[in-house]
Amino acid sequence: MEFIAPELKPRRPFRWPAALSGSKPAIFFGGDYNPEQWPREVWDEDIRLMKKAGVNFVSLAIFSWARLEPQEDVWDFAWLDEIITKLGSNGIAVDLASATASPAIWLAQKHPEILPVDEDGRTVWPGARQHWRATSPIYREYALKMCRKLAEHYKDNPYVVAWHLGNEYGCHNLYDYSDDANKEFQAWCKERYGTIEAVNEAWGADFWSQRVTSFDQILVPRHVNGFQNPGRMLDFRRFSSEALLRFCEAERDAIEEICPDKPFTTNFMVSGAAGQGVDYDAWAPSMDFVSNDHYFTPGEAHLDELTYSADLVDGMARRSPWLLMEHSTSAVNWRNINYRVKPGNTVRDSLAHLAFGANGILYFQWRQSQAGAEKFHSAMLPHAGENSQIFRNVCELGEDLRSLSEAGLLDTRLKRSDVAVLFDNESSWALQCDTLPTKKLAEFPEAFTFYRALLDLGITSDVIPVNGDWDGHRMVVVPNIYLMSSKLSQKLEAFARKGGMVIVTYMSGIADQTDRIWLGGYPGALRKLTGVRVEEGFPLGSDFAGTPDKLTLSNGAVAHDYADVVTSVDEGVDVLATYEAPADWGMNGVPAVTFHTFGGGACVYLGCRLNHEDVAGILRPLLPRLGVESAVESSSDVLRVVRVGEDGEDGVTRQFIFLFNRTDHEVQAPLEGTPLLASLASVDEDSSQVTLSSQGVVVSVIE
Ligand code: GLA
Ligand code: GLA
Repeated sequence: MEFIAPELKPRRPFRWPAALSGSKPAIFFGGDYNPEQWPREVWDEDIRLMKKAGVNFVSLAIFSWARLEPQEDVWDFAWLDEIITKLGSNGIAVDLASATASPAIWLAQKHPEILPVDEDGRTVWPGARQHWRATSPIYREYALKMCRKLAEHYKDNPYVVAWHLGNEYGCHNLYDYSDDANKEFQAWCKERYGTIEAVNEAWGADFWSQRVTSFDQILVPRHVNGFQNPGRMLDFRRFSSEALLRFCEAERDAIEEICPDKPFTTNFMVSGAAGQGVDYDAWAPSMDFVSNDHYFTPGEAHLDELTYSADLVDGMARRSPWLLMEHSTSAVNWRNINYRVKPGNTVRDSLAHLAFGANGILYFQWRQSQAGAEKFHSAMLPHAGENSQIFRNVCELGEDLRSLSEAGLLDTRLKRSDVAVLFDNESSWALQCDTLPTKKLAEFPEAFTFYRALLDLGITSDVIPVNGDWDGHRMVVVPNIYLMSSKLSQKLEAFARKGGMVIVTYMSGIADQTDRIWLGGYPGALRKLTGVRVEEGFPLGSDFAGTPDKLTLSNGAVAHDYADVVTSVDEGVDVLATYEAPADWGMNGVPAVTFHTFGGGACVYLGCRLNHEDVAGILRPLLPRLGVESAVESSSDVLRVVRVGEDGEDGVTRQFIFLFNRTDHEVQAPLEGTPLLASLASVDEDSSQVTLSSQGVVVSVIE
């Protein structure tokens, strides 16, 4: 019998940090601030420069445990009081951390049983950060004591406007294989499946004699000498994300009991990278508002990856405003090569996050550290000081945000597209498995390829978590949604029957939510909707001499990494493209792209991995047939994003038009409405044209 996972929890009502008394609501601007790294004299200099830049919001005390509780039960809030007062009295609001991201070393020495254990049984020692296990009752006790102390001390502080729970939960301690984790994993399995027989069924435990007879025989996936059970791995990933969420909620609840009137958030790490460790769409309902940390991808995908991520965060926030909690003015410190941004990117990247629904733009961090692992990470105020290009960029951005606030941007939301690209984190976990037809499936998310392909067609689509609201769209893309409940496949069928258009890729609808394959030919759960039947995969690669590593399609596109061997199509399915391959490969003439009319709508099937240009090439002639020609907003060279109002305070409904140059050369676009900002761009109001140089952006308003 099919196991159906529980639905997402109910959402907490949206709450946003209040403006300080005497200040008007404005776009938040600022960053992480770590005054404990600096002597007092620097604090006054910080305030002066924050005011110069237009900073109105900072996050404090994220890594301050060792300063707040230097010894067990010895508390020091004096320094934090002092800096909060300095900030607040200068109009800078505080997002106060629960201070639990990096426990003081005395705690780890007294209780080494709070330390995480890796899959090989090695202890994770202090020396970096997040050296704690989410499932440790002892750590929980100490952490919640810290939360309560902070809540007691700051509950009535007028300058503290939000609570910042932890910090990037799971960045370094997502997977823990300790005995505490093992015990909690057993309890989690019991809660999810009810009976041990249901666990055996879910994990296919008769394979390699993994059947168990009681919950205490369940083990976390510690080091093994072969291939892990994929069902158990998938559940361990679900459990690991949820164990951290439960810890985060415990922090929230401890604070909320004492201080119920300030909103809660934590910084997610949503990006276009494959296989995100934490299932953020399952976390979002537990927050009062969603926050994200985003670091640019160097190279040609910089802008597209950034906007894909921002768009997805907006989907997770279900279109409520969200906060960009961290990004960088230039290089980070944690890649192999830490590239700087291009001139203009500091302003452009921030405006791109804003365009996609952020109502606050913050950085890691305010002042670049003089010592420690992040001393070469860029900041708002670099080592060079006030007289620097980066600080001038920051001041320019502060000015821009001020004028956008005044123009009414806060009263608008990202405009909905007719086209949605669905995103399923659990499927990306399942595709990280090392026993699939090819490991290449794990490498990059197909959702991003389709998002880019749509941008190439001038369509700014919505990226929406699969559990989000997509059935009001005209067209949805189902990219590598490998895990599919019968409920989801029925929802997609109903969507098409009512007139919706569905684009399905290879490796979608293959297994149920426990990673058991739907039998009878792939894509089992989507056989009816796609009208195709696949008997085997055709992985592509060059690790042996003479293996096929590319497949050409009859329309000129080129498949790489993976193709389906489509062995039959249902009656009424149009084959739009086939493979053209040497006869001895058995792929010549096999359908690669098909079109299936289904009720009032249709389903297009793309049976192989293609680059975004080829996906765009295939979709372009189909747009009229899919009824989404009107979703085309711009040329492929320009990204056009619109934020639309609800009625503003003055009763006027506004639209803000953001135009970004996606290319490395100068481009032009029509000007709409009144220009507000131009960065690396010029506006010719006589000819109603804007000219954007390669990293350029223009924002205009229509009232
Ligand atoms: C070996 C083992 C089998 C099976 C195959 C898979 O031969 O004996 O149990 O795992 O490999 O190739
Ligand atoms: C993360 C953390 C910050 C900092 C930055 C550096 O986002 O939250 O504390 O380490 O990375 O990029």
